[in-house]
Amino acid sequence: MPGAEADPPACPPPRPPLSKRAALASLEPLSYQADFFSILGNLWHPQSNPGGVVNLGVAENKFCRRLLQDRVARCHLSVPDDLVGYSDFAGCAELRRAFAGVLERLVFRNGAAVDPDRLVLSNGCTSTLTMLAQILSDGELPRGTQDSGCRAGKKILYVAPRYPAFRSDLRGLADVETVQVLPSKLGALPTAAELDAVWAREASAPAAGRDADGGAECNSIVAMIVCNPDNPTGVSYTEAELMEVVSWCRKRSMYLIADEIYGAGCWGQGERRFTSLVGHADVTIWGLSKDFASSGARVSVACVPTRGGGDSAAADGLLEALKGRSILHALPNVAQVVLLQLLTDDEFMDSYLSACREAMFRAAEEVKAFLRRLGIPFVDSQGGMFLWADFSACGLSSHELFSRLLRGHGVFLTPGAEFFDKHGPSGVAPESVRWMRLCFGACDGPDALREGLRRVEAFVAESRAAASTE
Ligand SMILES: Cc1ncc(COP(=O)(O)O)c(C=O)c1O
Repeated sequence: MPGAEADPPACPPPRPPLSKRAALASLEPLSYQADFFSILGNLWHPQSNPGGVVNLGVAENKFCRRLLQDRVARCHLSVPDDLVGYSDFAGCAELRRAFAGVLERLVFRNGAAVDPDRLVLSNGCTSTLTMLAQILSDGELPRGTQDSGCRAGKKILYVAPRYPAFRSDLRGLADVETVQVLPSKLGALPTAAELDAVWAREASAPAAGRDADGGAECNSIVAMIVCNPDNPTGVSYTEAELMEVVSWCRKRSMYLIADEIYGAGCWGQGERRFTSLVGHADVTIWGLSKDFASSGARVSVACVPTRGGGDSAAADGLLEALKGRSILHALPNVAQVVLLQLLTDDEFMDSYLSACREAMFRAAEEVKAFLRRLGIPFVDSQGGMFLWADFSACGLSSHELFSRLLRGHGVFLTPGAEFFDKHGPSGVAPESVRWMRLCFGACDGPDALREGLRRVEAFVAESRAAASTE
């Protein structure tokens, strides 16, 4: 009939494919992610669920929750007029001032003054790191595209073993390639010579090497992340190690990102005291997930000092870009109202942060004594809420260890293979990794920790007995 609409086809063609970003977001989920979510509904409890799983796999401090909950309960929730509507997405001025004070006094503690106007608050270090990666790199450029002479997308360098989500977030969320450097000494930062070797290898990689005319050498690595104290080793790097990296980054005109999310919790002394890179790195980040034992708060801060990395124009560019993107990651104003009360309560901040540090120190000591008794080597730590332990004696890869510990003994540890890139010239074969990260803060306190350790011991005894009868 003239003018009538055509019937839709019985079977409409499929919708257009989702973006490359959508595909990347599900590209490399962490191997233990699904198991982690499934154990959450079945966690061990001495009375209500003695057969449940003990969580020794997530970098959280659950020992100090009550202290925080009690203080939050005393906060008032009256939101001032200027915070009812849109406000500065990098964080309201008063809260940035409060953060500057906390960073100077309780986190960085190296005498550097923190300028509140050079802070950008966001919803978690994951967001801050993803924003930084997106600002510093355009991801993999199509072949033939010229970008200041380099054809390859720009990459970010980190030290392995590294926090698993450095790779999955930078790759999956920011679409930025990563390169790992494996220092010859476990628990140490790479030396300048080791970094030079990675640099030279990347410069000669087929996609990077030469400029558009095949002439001058260029390099695709644009930034390096240093996590101090480190996840997973818990090591607090020495000032000498850190300064060698700072000089190397300057020499190579590379951005340096200092992830100091475990900085305030560090209990190291002497040369292992915590040395902040604020004032040396281009950007230094901290958040409330670890030292402040509040991963659910989703709060982080990026500090971009005027001459952090030695180049003030670069610093200003970085700061403006972070501020520009912060609209996607701004803290809700109601949360800012609560945070302001917590962060300006000096007495609470002092006692709470030291209680959190003390709890993690004591738990670390207990687990170290346990591992020594079992003859399981580990890297001596001065911070964090985990230990990096070598389970080679059990004769299994970390993924097999993970599975047997979880399914056979009801205890969840993080498989060591997840802390290394398997791709690229320095890739590490997952089957060769026999280390595990044991997080002592993730369970609900000392009793759960002891139950978890009892189960780990039973597993180690069983594996050793099996090995001796083979
Ligand atoms: C080294 C490191 N950086 C960043 C993060 C992410 O922290 P957030 O909870 O603030 O996103 C973690 C979390 O485990 C971490 O260990």
